[in-house]
Amino acid sequence: MNLLDGKKLSNEIKDEIAADVAQMKERGEKVPHLAAVLVGEDGASLTYVGSKVRACERIGFESTLKRLPESTTEEELLAIVRELNENPDIDGYIVQLPLPAHIDEQKILMAVDPDKDVDGFHPANFGKMALELETFISATPYGIMEMLRRYGVETSGKHAVVIGRSHIVGRPISILLSQKGPAGNATVTLAHSRTKNLADLTRQADIIVSALGVPNFVKADMVKEGVVVIDVGITRVPDETRERGYYLCGDVEFETVSKKASYITPVPGGVGPMTIAMLLKNTLLARQRHRA
Ligand code: GUN
Repeated sequence: MNLLDGKKLSNEIKDEIAADVAQMKERGEKVPHLAAVLVGEDGASLTYVGSKVRACERIGFESTLKRLPESTTEEELLAIVRELNENPDIDGYIVQLPLPAHIDEQKILMAVDPDKDVDGFHPANFGKMALELETFISATPYGIMEMLRRYGVETSGKHAVVIGRSHIVGRPISILLSQKGPAGNATVTLAHSRTKNLADLTRQADIIVSALGVPNFVKADMVKEGVVVIDVGITRVPDETRERGYYLCGDVEFETVSKKASYITPVPGGVGPMTIAMLLKNTLLARQRHRA
């Protein structure tokens, strides 16, 4: 079994970006500036956004965190989005999801300037991704592709089973894995809550990407020997014996599945850190595009 070490790989990618930023500074150029908008007090979102801002500091980006109360209205959030669109100092920004139920997520994402949409969630960017045009690819699927490429995992002609059809992970990764090019050319099955006989499909899979959010859902009897496993799930499971009051658990029962896998991502330390690294990569791209 080979560990797909997202922590190590993301540090390498961040070092590469930091070197680019250092050169920008030497040339007297403006460094990339990422902004994040966080509405409400969701614990997991707070942690993720905190990690994104800290990562910016580490590699020499400027960062701005806009924290808004849970009671923020859709109109108020739209006004902030317009402000960020118009602010020439901001190269890219994200609106952390999920948003409170009284705000229409789609309406907000549609209002983000596609040229600053480093999450790649705007329909114009998602469409370009699907058509293999240059764009911002959403950080999680981009991170998975980069991990497969850098570890030299063979995907061409393989059967990949993606579990979960979310707009952020399942749907885009199913498109990317089937496209031509490195870490592509796979034959993809996109499984979801209405899929019948899921275990029959996963047992045929050379590659499994699970983005479901159900702890330990994928068990050893659902996978074949030599399978490549990408675990996108990261659920907080309550545990009073731990200081934080919870532990992080992936979709895959790591202890048993790892014994059959050729490659597997751990949770934490797999896909999560790669997501942050690729968000930074997109922000660097945004800066370079704004300059061009
Ligand atoms: N919530 C969970 N993942 C993400 C992400 O990649 N970007 C944003 N904006 N929100 C998220």
